Amino acid sequence: MQPRLEHLGFVSRRAEHTRDFGFLLGQAAEPGDLILLRGPFGAGKTTLVQGIGAGLGIQRHVTSPSFTLINEYQGRLPMHHVDLFRLNDLDLEIEQAIESCEGEAGLTVIEWPDLLPEDLKSGALRIDLEVLADEERSLVVHTTGSRWTSDQLREMMIEALRGEISR
Ligand SMILES: Nc1ncnc2c1ncn2[C@@H]1O[C@H](COP(=O)(O)OP(=O)(O)OP(=O)(O)O)[C@@H](O)[C@H]1O
Ligand SMILES: [Mg+2]
Repeated sequence: MQPRLEHLGFVSRRAEHTRDFGFLLGQAAEPGDLILLRGPFGAGKTTLVQGIGAGLGIQRHVTSPSFTLINEYQGRLPMHHVDLFRLNDLDLEIEQAIESCEGEAGLTVIEWPDLLPEDLKSGALRIDLEVLADEERSLVVHTTGSRWTSDQLREMMIEALRGEISR
């Protein structure tokens, strides 16, 4: 069996790199996919989701869900964008809402997912973002337990860094 890399990453030196990587993720997304985005304020989580939305062909501007927790967009696949930042704990109603998003044939992307119970994170692609400098961000992708392969993700990272994706 080929050895598999469990995580890999790159340094994004401007917001476009992050958005372009998201764009490629959105293009490759399949029904039922789940992506978890971890990292501090301003790390680029929503920027990445904007790229994912563009890759799914979503026309509407993607913004962080504030009053709603969950925003839904229509593209090639539906995208549910969840942001759990403002929550101190999850109640049953929220868990069920997230579970129902994940049950749909679309893509669910969740910012600040640490509160989620393990069963709502299973099969997810996890991306950890960090702020390195003004415009520099580290993005590390964890493929363990997900359907994504490190080869596929490495190609996407290299293409995003080329900066030639036209949107
Ligand atoms: N390389 C980069 N990648 C991503 N964003 C960058 C980069 N360089 C600068 N930025 C800027 O950093 C900001 C990232 O904000 P964004 O809302 O995406 O972060 P966030 O992780 O969603 O934060 P929050 O936790 O507050 O929701 C944006 O203003 C973006 O333009
Ligand atoms: Mg955000």
